Amino acid sequence: MKTDRHTIITMTLVTLALIFFTPAAVTGSHNETNNIIPIPVSVEYHDGFFVFKPSIRIIAEKDAQAEASKLIDALAPAMGYRLKLASKARPKARVVKLVIDPRISQPGLEGYILDVSAEQILIRAKQPAGLFYGIQSLLQLLPASIFSKTQVKDINWKVPCLKITDYPRFQWRGLLIDPARHFITVNNVKKFLNGMAMHKFNRLQMHLTDNIGWRIEIKKHPNLTKLASNRDRSGGNGGFYTQEEIRELVRYAEKRHITIVPEIEMPYHAGAAINAYPYIGINPARVEGMSLDKRWAALGGLVAPRPETVEFMQDVLAEVIDLFASRFIHIGGDEANLKLWENDPEMQTQMKQLGCKDAHELHSWFIKQMDAFLIQNNRRLLGWDEILQGGLAPGATVMSWRGIHGGITAANAGHDVVMAPTSHTYFDYYQSAPVNEPLAIGGLIPLEKVYQYDPIPKAITPEKAVHILGVQGQLWGEYISTQKHLEYMAYPRAIALAEIGWSQNELKSYGNFVTRLRHHLKHLEAKGINYRKLD
Ligand code: ACM
Repeated sequence: MKTDRHTIITMTLVTLALIFFTPAAVTGSHNETNNIIPIPVSVEYHDGFFVFKPSIRIIAEKDAQAEASKLIDALAPAMGYRLKLASKARPKARVVKLVIDPRISQPGLEGYILDVSAEQILIRAKQPAGLFYGIQSLLQLLPASIFSKTQVKDINWKVPCLKITDYPRFQWRGLLIDPARHFITVNNVKKFLNGMAMHKFNRLQMHLTDNIGWRIEIKKHPNLTKLASNRDRSGGNGGFYTQEEIRELVRYAEKRHITIVPEIEMPYHAGAAINAYPYIGINPARVEGMSLDKRWAALGGLVAPRPETVEFMQDVLAEVIDLFASRFIHIGGDEANLKLWENDPEMQTQMKQLGCKDAHELHSWFIKQMDAFLIQNNRRLLGWDEILQGGLAPGATVMSWRGIHGGITAANAGHDVVMAPTSHTYFDYYQSAPVNEPLAIGGLIPLEKVYQYDPIPKAITPEKAVHILGVQGQLWGEYISTQKHLEYMAYPRAIALAEIGWSQNELKSYGNFVTRLRHHLKHLEAKGINYRKLD
């Protein structure tokens, strides 16, 4: 991973030098423009167009056929015909050709080269993901109605002749959704994944558990979903994902080259689990006889880090690992009120026995138990930046949300980091003055503020910057109870974030972004995705 990022940085500098000192690479002969978001690394324009017709064949060998089918599927509804797939072109026939070629000179594994001439469209990539991203760019070069779900007549499906060379700046381009607070149906998660794929996002973090609800079936502990998934408090839309539904979502996301990152919250935000299994909470005797509804509040949503609790959470993680392909498993770790441990006699004894000098160290001990378990199972622990307090677990990757300092500290200590600060990436915050907006949790993060964000902190040396894996936007669900509203909060801010995650920093220009965005929003309209109108 380290060499990879070093290579990327070196190649980026070389490429940028080429872009800025080779005028033809930027403007070509017509000074044309395109509206692709995220903006590609380099675009060279040529004369003419490639025009789609029903007779055009999609040419792909076996290793590229899955992506070729996705292209055919994407074009069919609006075009009203399905292009045919073939493994070889007939002489002189006009074709769209998809090629996996490990030798193309692209940094990283997700890049692509898209060549459009009047005779053929050629997309080359090292891996299927690159072809997929090349296809997303190609779709954006067609008239916007290509995203329509029904046939569009009397239109010329043409693409300008050009050559795009493109690859992402960051390997982690994520969004978080929160079905724990307000449940999100399987179909709506799929719709959300479709929107992400258009923008070359590759990670969806699902916040599956919290005080208010537990949303994933765990066979060994059935009360988690039986007692803790249907809470009145969650606005009447309780529910949970069966293991079969989780597998279906993981497969659906993988087809779009998106990894679903599960988040199982501990030791705090665990009220729903404690509600179902009081023995993992502090002083369980205190809640005996209490109604289910009162228990979590009484226990503060914080588990007690005794051996049975460690075993309980590892049981959960074992099933989670079996369900999700993600190398990273998010264990939360945020916002624990450690006074509850400090003031509890059993926890005081536990701290003494473990040699912890304070509750932060006990918190760290608990997280380290999960870290060791995940390492044993060939996975990596991801946690919010509070896991730095009391000592960071050896294998941990940090998600920096309380500003960027946690991220800087972790990167300087040689740990990987995903930047997710409240200052720029909390899309549950207001997007303009609250009087003009539906009720939100607070804050103010307009579109331009998101766009100005650079995930690489200034206060970090280049050799530590390789630990910044990327960036993620958060759509916490306390105030988001419908899909329409989720999309309203996500878009267009997530589109700005997509450009931050994918595009080279030096190519960023807010004015130019907004110009492209005005066109791009037609794609969302055609797809039936809601968004906040531009000011
Ligand atoms: C968080 O927003 N508590 C990670």
